Amino acid sequence: MSLNPVQSAADYRLSDLIDKCIMAGDLTRDEIVFLLSLEEEDAAQLIAAADEVRKQYCGSGVHIRGLVEFSNTCKNDCLYCGLRRSNKSVHRYRMTPDEIVATAQRLASRGIGTVVLQSGEDLFYKAETIADIIRRIKSSADIAITLSLGERPYKDYKLWKEAGADRYLLRHETSNPELFSKIHPDSTLENRLGCLRELKRLGYQIGAGCMVGFPGQTIDDLASDILLFKELEADMVGIGPFIPHPNTPFKDAPQGSLEMTLKMVALARIVTRDALIPATTATGSIDEFGREKALQAGANVVMPNHTPLDYRIDYEIYPNKRCITEDPEKCGPCLTARILSVGRTVATGPGHSPRYMRRKAGLE
Ligand code: 5AD
Ligand code: FES
Repeated sequence: MSLNPVQSAADYRLSDLIDKCIMAGDLTRDEIVFLLSLEEEDAAQLIAAADEVRKQYCGSGVHIRGLVEFSNTCKNDCLYCGLRRSNKSVHRYRMTPDEIVATAQRLASRGIGTVVLQSGEDLFYKAETIADIIRRIKSSADIAITLSLGERPYKDYKLWKEAGADRYLLRHETSNPELFSKIHPDSTLENRLGCLRELKRLGYQIGAGCMVGFPGQTIDDLASDILLFKELEADMVGIGPFIPHPNTPFKDAPQGSLEMTLKMVALARIVTRDALIPATTATGSIDEFGREKALQAGANVVMPNHTPLDYRIDYEIYPNKRCITEDPEKCGPCLTARILSVGRTVATGPGHSPRYMRRKAGLE
C-alpha cells in the first residue's frame, strides 16, 4: 500500500476549490458548473463550506420575516404559477388596506422585525393606496417593510420608497433571457433586471432569486444565476425548487430536486458572502426538514406565513405548500424550535442587509 495514495485530478480540484469557496468565493463559471455537478459526499463538502462562510460572515442568528400575501389576483400568466390569470379555478381574494395594516401591526406586537407584503401583480391597488398602507404601518409600528409586488413603473417604486418601504423582493427566476420569455409571456428578463437596478438606485435593499429545476433549465443557466446574484450585488437571495402545479402548463413536469436547491443555496452564500438568504417555504414543502437543511447550507432567514388563515389557502402558487393551515400562534414556536434544532439562534431587530448598512455608511 502506498503511503501517498495517488489522488485523481478531480479530487485535487475539489479540495482546492473548497478552500477557494471558504477563503474568497470568487468562483468562475466553470468552477460553479463543476460544483453544481457534485453528488453525495462531494456535495456535502460544498454545503459544509457554505455553512462555514455563513458562520464567519453572518453568525448564528436567523432572521424572521412575517409574510402577508394580501392579494392572489394576478394580471400575468407565468407558465409555472398556480395564480396565473388563466387558472380560472382559483378563488381570488384581496385584503383591504385596513386588514393589511392590522396584520402588520399584529406582527410587530409579536416582536417580528420585518413584514413582507406580497401579492400577485394586481393593479387594483393603486400606487397611492400602497403608499398609504406603508405610511400607516410605519407610523404605528416599529417594523421594516419588504415589498414583493412584481414589476411596476419607476414612479411607483419611488413613491413607495418615499413612503417608508425598506426592501423589495423581485426574483429574476432565471438569468437565461430566452427561457425567461418562454415562462413569462408578459415580461422580459431585460425589464425584470431593469426594475431591480432601479430599485437599487432608489435605495431599496434588493432581493433577486430563482427557481431550481423547471422545464428547460440547465446547469449552465443555474451557474449564470449564481453569477448574477454577485453582479447585481443582491442584498437578499431567494432560491427554491420548482414544484409543478396541476392547473398550469407545467403540470406534468418533474419537481426540482432538494439536492440541487441546497447546492444553489450553498453557492449563493459562497459568492455573496453576507447576503440574506431564506430557507424558503418551497424547500420546506418538498422535504419535511428542507428548511433546516437549507439553514445548514448557508441560509440565515425564515419567512413564516402570517396571511390570515381564511385567505391563505387560496394563495396556492404551488401545491402542498407548508403551513397552509397553521395558526401563526403555532407557527412562531414551531419555527423557533426548528431554528434551535440546528444549533442556531433567533435574531432580533429589523435584520437589515449588512452590505446595505455599509452602503449607507459610505463604506461601499
Ligand atoms: N414552484 C416553485 N416556486 C414557485 N414560485 C411560483 N410558482 C412556483 C412553483 N410552481 C415562486 C417564484 C416566485 C415566488 C413567489 O414563488 O419564484 O417568485
Ligand atoms: Fe408553521 Fe411549522 S413553521 S407550523
